[in-house]
Amino acid sequence: MVNIRIIPATMRYAKAYCAAVDIVARERRYLSRTTGFSLASTKAFFRSAFDDNCPILVAVDDQDRLVGWCDIIALPGDCCCHVGRLGIGLLPAYRNHGLGGRLLKAALNQAQGRFEQVELEVLSGNGRAIRLYERFGFEQEGVRRRAFFVDGQYQDILLMNKFLQ
Ligand SMILES: CC(C)(COP(=O)(O)OP(=O)(O)OC[C@H]1O[C@@H](n2cnc3c(N)ncnc32)[C@H](O)[C@@H]1OP(=O)(O)O)[C@@H](O)C(=O)NCCC(=O)NCCS
Repeated sequence: MVNIRIIPATMRYAKAYCAAVDIVARERRYLSRTTGFSLASTKAFFRSAFDDNCPILVAVDDQDRLVGWCDIIALPGDCCCHVGRLGIGLLPAYRNHGLGGRLLKAALNQAQGRFEQVELEVLSGNGRAIRLYERFGFEQEGVRRRAFFVDGQYQDILLMNKFLQ
């Protein structure tokens, strides 16, 4: 994984980002949806994040192929926009090698000065992601009981938060 670079996203990564989110969503066990977003809504998401100075980072291989992402987007509303909402994902072959930690660290660094705190939602069964978030100082703030339901199975959604310095 040493040849993976972490860089700020630009619009030219929108299509690959869109495809990567779709792949992870279709695994049906990590994200809150089972398909990704359209390319048009992904581009709108990128535009809004860029305008709002919110970090979107991508992990790319030595041939510039996107293998993961991490973004922190402001909550809507002028009373809540000091809080960032984090999303992260890696393509399956790139997991368990510390890349998630590299992405998260880079995104949190960029979030300094932009957000006072960063929150996220994670499924209670996603031990690897929970472990990663705890390692970076996120703490559980709440639980949405049985709020996730797919393939006949419920899971709790944990709310986690980290205050930035
Ligand atoms: C979550 C994700 C970003 C983590 O990135 P990663 O590169 O795989 O994770 P890292 O290697 O940086 O760290 C994972 C940690 O979890 C631990 N771990 C792995 N599997 C685990 C499990 N089943 N239960 C608990 N801990 C686990 C690892 O030992 C490591 O801990 P350590 O740093 O103390 O050694 C990545 O696995 C991923 O994209 N998963 C699918 C999508 C997803 O879950 N997104 C988050 C939605 S909230």
